[in-house]
Amino acid sequence: MATPAKRHRSSQAVELEYDRIAHRYEHRWAHYVQATVSKTLAHLDLQPTMRLLDIGCGTGVLLREAERACPGIAVVGIDVSRAMLTMARRGLPRTTPLLRADAEELPFSTARFHVVVSSSSFHFWQNPSRALDEIARILVPGGLLVLTDWCDDFLACRVWDRVLRVINPAHQQIYSRDQCHALLSEHGYRVRALELYKVSWLWGMMTASAVPEQPKGG
Ligand SMILES: C[S@@+](CC[C@H](N)C(=O)[O-])C[C@H]1O[C@@H](n2cnc3c(N)ncnc32)[C@H](O)[C@@H]1O
Repeated sequence: MATPAKRHRSSQAVELEYDRIAHRYEHRWAHYVQATVSKTLAHLDLQPTMRLLDIGCGTGVLLREAERACPGIAVVGIDVSRAMLTMARRGLPRTTPLLRADAEELPFSTARFHVVVSSSSFHFWQNPSRALDEIARILVPGGLLVLTDWCDDFLACRVWDRVLRVINPAHQQIYSRDQCHALLSEHGYRVRALELYKVSWLWGMMTASAVPEQPKGG
């Protein structure tokens, strides 16, 4: 497990990186973001009575799509990058809560959300175990986690991951299908689906949907 000092350095590196690229992120990665957000949302049956949290919401694409697909749903976004949150704010109603917060310390009460999603953020998380425990804590009983990220089972992603581990201090690691399944199971989640797919020759993805079997702290 990372020491607090190391964790602080890592989330600072993520913040620096995304503060720097926030203004061009959505345009630069338009195809990738649309494809991955669509796949993430496809795992959800959104209802207007739900509360949804997006961890690492970035410029807010998924939040916008969720509000458009399901008017009335209560969505919340968190991110460690202030600049990404500023971009997200531009496309969302003033009433949509956007908070600067880390996946590992969620500033919400127990059993607060029906759905937690995260797209393309997991590989930055220094301590995924802690984050998964936090997510289980804030989900209502029977609530759903949908996690989308690069997948180590695809060769191009695996190579890129090993390069990023050396050259990019913000990057932590990507996971294989089996590692992701094991991580979720070890943290008390029942995995409902784990889908592998490609969105381009480079980006091999996985989307997992899972339900905590024993909500924490309830
Ligand atoms: C590749 S972007 C993805 C943004 C958005 N989810 C999307 O699909 O377009 C990764 C985002 O995760 C955020 N992030 C990384 N680590 C985080 C953490 N530990 N807690 C909260 N946000 C984090 C970054 O600041 C960045 O905005």
